[in-house]
Amino acid sequence: MGKDVIIACDFDSKEKLIGFLDKFGDIKPFLKIGMELFYAEGPEIVREVKKRGYKVFLDLKLHDIPNTVKKSMAVLQNLNVDMTNVHAAGTSQMMKAAREGFGDGLLIGVTQLTSTDEQTMNDEILIPGKIEDVVVRYAQTVKASGLSGVVCSPLEVKRIKEACGKDFVTVTPGIRFSGGEKGDQKRVTTPEDAKLIGSDYIVVGRPITQSDDPVAAYKRCVKEFIG
Ligand code: C5P
Repeated sequence: MGKDVIIACDFDSKEKLIGFLDKFGDIKPFLKIGMELFYAEGPEIVREVKKRGYKVFLDLKLHDIPNTVKKSMAVLQNLNVDMTNVHAAGTSQMMKAAREGFGDGLLIGVTQLTSTDEQTMNDEILIPGKIEDVVVRYAQTVKASGLSGVVCSPLEVKRIKEACGKDFVTVTPGIRFSGGEKGDQKRVTTPEDAKLIGSDYIVVGRPITQSDDPVAAYKRCVKEFIG
């Protein structure tokens, strides 16, 4: 399984994305395109970066009735995205439908968003218990539904790997260089720690996109995470 650094391209226009990518010259990082850029530019932005030779993680976090998700996944599969995701809360029936629609590629389940804390999960989403136990239980359902892995906090990787096996893919945001700004992320790890913990893919946004030298920041991530 390929360990890689995925850059979260949280831009609101194609111009900003292309201006950013041009700095990298011949280097073609794995890119995450999320709702902001996708809703601003539509599927054409995915076709454009795929045409330019980049791998794309399309982070749209689908959650709807199984039939709708299956058909939408077939559309995303036609865009040739390399990785995409659904909310595990959509149930195993929805995740199985997603797998049917998407085919064999890297299809990832979102467990609990890292912006949700335990109290909110208990009081508002009405799931009792410890958040880490819930995340592991969700991961098991994601695996049983035939998906490839989960998005999770690096701090949850160990328990998820124990429960779901080492080949079950973990994609982890919340990455910061030691001594760097945390922004709104609460539980963060360095690329080096994410490597030691056993993450398969790290998703890194602002430490690269907001850096004075994004290419150097990306190279530092790759060096620390992959070696
Ligand atoms: O800028 P930063 O490195 O915090 O960006 C992290 C990226 O990962 C953002 O695109 C964010 O939406 C995404 N993400 C996250 N936590 C999750 C799921 C996705 O930070 N649980």
